[in-house]
Amino acid sequence: MECYHLYMTTATAQAFPNIAFIKYWGNRDAHFRIPSNASISMNLGGLETRTQVTFDPALKNDQLTLNGKPQSGKSLERVSAVLDLVRQMAALQRFARVESNNNFPTGVGIASSASAFAALSLAASAAAGLALSEAELSRLARRGSGSACRSVPGGFVEWQAGEDDLTSYAFSIASPGHWDLSDCIAIVSQAPKPTGSTEGHALAASSPLQAARLADTPRRLDFCRRAILDRDFEAFAEVVEQDCHLMHAVMITSTPPLLYWQPATLAVMQAVMDWRKNGLPVCYTIDAGPNVHVLCPTASAAQVISGLTLITGVEKVLAARPGGPTHLV
Ligand code: DP6
Repeated sequence: MECYHLYMTTATAQAFPNIAFIKYWGNRDAHFRIPSNASISMNLGGLETRTQVTFDPALKNDQLTLNGKPQSGKSLERVSAVLDLVRQMAALQRFARVESNNNFPTGVGIASSASAFAALSLAASAAAGLALSEAELSRLARRGSGSACRSVPGGFVEWQAGEDDLTSYAFSIASPGHWDLSDCIAIVSQAPKPTGSTEGHALAASSPLQAARLADTPRRLDFCRRAILDRDFEAFAEVVEQDCHLMHAVMITSTPPLLYWQPATLAVMQAVMDWRKNGLPVCYTIDAGPNVHVLCPTASAAQVISGLTLITGVEKVLAARPGGPTHLV
């Protein structure tokens, strides 16, 4: 048993990003990332993060490479904080080498922190010899990035806000095969966003609209969950767009205000509303950035993608379908 500690231990995990239909915006406890409200999302299959973690007795500190590029500063610190939690749970003292790769274009404003921290949590805990339950893994991923807890279970997922570290985690509400939805992501800007989500969450409470948004969240959660379970696209479209508008209303009315939209963002929103009026099942949602996630049944995806490509300012369109859980490879 003694000599086990002389060896490197390694594990590799794969995770998908997710798109929220009912958004997480604002924390009750920023340190533990206990959100102010529950949220609902879908994993984005096809867009994947693959992360290898190796605990190596020869290392003098943690190391991180992203798509082959060595990282330091904030991104390494955030990874080390999750590794510290794993080391604490496993009573392990070694540092780790973390190598993470995305198969989707990075720096195009697709939230990669969700898949990154979901994959890191599984790879690091497995490499440390821990066999965490799905809920434990979801809680660990949450500490790295809130939305990462939703990338741990598969398919359509709900993150129950909970009250503390123990009770705030995500679970599946429907499998990936339950509903063949596509997310056609209209990339309108590849520039890094001026204000990241973590700083944004901290501003949420400064908006006089946040309290109203939170008070109405249980209704939207019920409505969205029901629409997904019933595969009712019309109801789904209504609540997803309303939830997106509520979050952006809070952002715009925060101090200082956060306005993430570009002219092309609005052009896509208007096109999608027109298409839906004309009978196409399609709707949109937007995260903390200018790109637009255009959602539709996969049967309509080809038509939606060709329409999006024609809009001035849309640089490219990425497509994803419901993805599975974070898993070891
Ligand atoms: C607008 O999970 O990226 O995408 O916990 O600070 O890492 P941190 O924030 P993050 O916030 C996501 C915000 C959102 C909405 C959502 O995905 O629910």
